[in-house]
Amino acid sequence: MSKAKSDNSKKPSNYKMLYAKGRKALERRVSGYRFLHSLSVADTAADLARVYNIDIDKARLAGMLHDWDKDFTDDELIRRAEKNGVAISDYQEDMAALLHSQTGAIAVSKKYPEISDDVIQAISRHTAAAPDMTELDMIIYIADMIEPLRTRGNLRRIRAAVGKISLEELFVKAYETTMANLIARHRFIHPDSLEVWNAYIHHERADADAGPHKGKQQKG
Ligand SMILES: [Fe+2]
Ligand SMILES: [Fe+2]
Repeated sequence: MSKAKSDNSKKPSNYKMLYAKGRKALERRVSGYRFLHSLSVADTAADLARVYNIDIDKARLAGMLHDWDKDFTDDELIRRAEKNGVAISDYQEDMAALLHSQTGAIAVSKKYPEISDDVIQAISRHTAAAPDMTELDMIIYIADMIEPLRTRGNLRRIRAAVGKISLEELFVKAYETTMANLIARHRFIHPDSLEVWNAYIHHERADADAGPHKGKQQKG
């Protein structure tokens, strides 16, 4: 899987300081529940980063900021997307809530231009994911799903697998859960999500072909 695009020129001197600044701003911006969820995602992302040997401060910062735009209404999100040139497909008009990841990433990058692009990308990809997720992208996606304040859904098997399987295998498990939930609740599935799913099944099969201990079989 591709490596995090972390070697860009914008290298903040102090992610911890940015975290403190962002945390204060987030507390004023979102609801009490959303704020607690965001801190919980930050802590979970930091834990995952420690386990999978990724930059912990970046993971914590991206986790804390991932829902920066989450409390806007669908109409507001569509307006913010249009204003910032985020493409809105016909499907997205039905699923406007998904836009908060992209509009949030843009808003965060404008407010804190010193934050590096890999952190901004992880925020942007935390809802729909992408066929070429970086390690940081995967960590934020997973942390958003398994943070301990989430009590709905069967997350036990994903939480239990942390550190026991590769980060990509863990991401595929999390994505599988998302897709299964969408189907069970008769929700639309964005065509881009199918592209993501197929890309990772392709990796899984390539891994399985490469050796007996790789690419564990998922359900059919
Ligand atoms: Fe979100
Ligand atoms: Fe979230």
